[in-house]
Amino acid sequence: MIANRSNPGVDYASRHMRFGWWSLLCFLTLGFALELLHGFKVGLYLDTSNDTRRLMWTLAHAHGTLLSLVHILFAISLRVFPITASSSLKTVSWCLAGASTLLPGGFFAGGVQFYDGDPGLGILLVPIGATCLAVAVFLIAHGTSLVSPSGPQSRSDDQALGGSRSSQPSPPTGRKAIRSR
Ligand code: HEM
Repeated sequence: MIANRSNPGVDYASRHMRFGWWSLLCFLTLGFALELLHGFKVGLYLDTSNDTRRLMWTLAHAHGTLLSLVHILFAISLRVFPITASSSLKTVSWCLAGASTLLPGGFFAGGVQFYDGDPGLGILLVPIGATCLAVAVFLIAHGTSLVSPSGPQSRSDDQALGGSRSSQPSPPTGRKAIRSR
């Protein structure tokens, strides 16, 4: 726990690792549910008049599963590579969680009630989720360009964040500087 407090990257890595695996389970379960709707030839899902619902729920499943993998990838990145500045880490974390909720949630809600070929109002959540994802990916990409090839030790500790390296002793000034803000 002391290591966690001295390096917020460890906390965020664990949080996203947990979030990713639980969310993957959730959206795989949705995949099984879709499979059942196919298996029992349920008209509410398979009738051509319900094409919009099928598309929306398939998109919810696909985006949910893939975004779960993004969380897991992000958690691994934090452990092995100091990919982002600590000041933006909180934003990245919230944006990723928002994207994982709003993108698939919006698709799913858009398929619950729909109007001919148009999805329901829930679809309005999708662009908000997409924006969250774009912001998170931008901040992560930007964070990677702040990192020098030789790793976090060569950078200002104010900016560096490396999960797996937390086990290595860092200079006293650095331990203070990288505490969560
Ligand atoms: C990491 C795991 C998974 C990923 C990334 C994934 C991704 C996708 C994608 C991208 C599609 C859309 C394909 C298309 O329409 O062209 C899809 C469809 C589908 N997936 Fe998955 N999937 C995963 C696991 C599963 C599991 C475990 C099940 C359950 C058995 C499942 C059931 C389905 C079904 C039934 C469809 C078709 C829905 C339809 O067209 O009515 N998926 N999946």
